[in-house]
Amino acid sequence: MVQQLTIDEIMSLRVRVLRQGTPATDAHYPEDEYPDVVHFGIVQSGDVIATSTWFIKECPEAPGVAAMQLKGMAVDTSLQSGGYGAQLIRAGVALAAERNAEIVWARARDSALGFYEKCGFQTVGDGFIDEPTDMPHHIVVRRL
Ligand SMILES: CC(C)(COP(=O)(O)OP(=O)(O)OC[C@H]1O[C@@H](n2cnc3c(N)ncnc32)[C@H](O)[C@@H]1OP(=O)(O)O)[C@@H](O)C(=O)NCCC(=O)NCCS
Repeated sequence: MVQQLTIDEIMSLRVRVLRQGTPATDAHYPEDEYPDVVHFGIVQSGDVIATSTWFIKECPEAPGVAAMQLKGMAVDTSLQSGGYGAQLIRAGVALAAERNAEIVWARARDSALGFYEKCGFQTVGDGFIDEPTDMPHHIVVRRL
């Protein structure tokens, strides 16, 4: 069951999953301060096991289009491929529709492109190296 959580509740999972093996150790984003930010999470036996963060932000590959970005998509390592990531995407897409976005988008790790494509996203534009992680990324976009 996806629910809204606070930044403090999701941070430990975000760091554990998304900073593993990367030069960065901090996982706060400037967008965490946006007034409209929503942190989704799934809690099991009192532990946050999946999270993603959603906010209104224009996509560089679609200027002028009403857009919601997701960031910080992380599922507990031992529970990946159990459908939790897809549940978070469904919740975020519903939120984006409520907020009149036309697209949702992310800066996706290349290692996760298959996940986003399964969830209805298309990979667009050239690849780039993301600074905090030093990993290859592409932008992915899904129309609502
Ligand atoms: C990527 C991630 C968020 C996906 O969440 P998940 O709960 O593991 O994924 P789901 O089980 O909901 O997967 C949905 C579909 O995508 C597929 N999938 C999941 N991760 C995948 C990957 N890395 N590559 C290719 N396909 C993937 C699943 O097999 C499933 O396919 P199906 O519908 O045919 O069964 C999660 O694996 C994770 O936290 N990975 C490490 C951190 C990361 O890469 N985060 C994304 C940063 S942009």
